[in-house]
Amino acid sequence: MISIKTITAEETYSLRHSVMWPNQPISFVMLSDDEKGIHFGLFVNEILTSVISLFISDKKAQFRKFATLKHEQGKGYGTKLLKHTINFVSAKTMEELWCNARTDKTKFYKKFGFTETKKKFTKENIDFVILEKKLK
Ligand SMILES: CC(C)(COP(=O)(O)OP(=O)(O)OC[C@H]1O[C@@H](n2cnc3c(N)ncnc32)[C@H](O)[C@@H]1OP(=O)(O)O)[C@@H](O)C(=O)NCCC(=O)NCCS
Repeated sequence: MISIKTITAEETYSLRHSVMWPNQPISFVMLSDDEKGIHFGLFVNEILTSVISLFISDKKAQFRKFATLKHEQGKGYGTKLLKHTINFVSAKTMEELWCNARTDKTKFYKKFGFTETKKKFTKENIDFVILEKKLK
């Protein structure tokens, strides 16, 4: 059974860490803004399988630290969680949803209507590009 719930920042840490930055200390995946964020978790039979964190500022929302357990990737869970996030933000009459995407994930996000901006950067040898989706 699949469900999506609001969770605490602390509940996201172990999944963020194991999927995204396993070679860094766990403090590396803790964001200074985490307590101000909205965190969604997708559960498969009560097991936290995918997480995403949303940060709202004025009429713009950013999602960060989107990750699915390695052995559960490619099964559509990330798609479900991202759609849930887009619907949540749209219902709040935000103007834009954006993210710092790993460049190799651009194709995935384009399916949801995100477009590339010219803003690019590199962190820990990983290339990133800012993607945005206009909501109205
Ligand atoms: C990005 C991420 C969160 C996506 O989560 P996910 O649960 O794997 O997402 P989905 O399963 O919905 O989609 C992943 C791919 O599987 C495909 N897929 C989804 N359901 C599928 C199914 N039933 N059968 C076959 N393929 C499927 C999707 O089309 C997608 O393909 P694409 O990448 O070629 O576009 C996950 O890959 C991840 O954690 N990556 C590591 C961390 C990371 O890079 N985070 C994002 C930083 S920008």
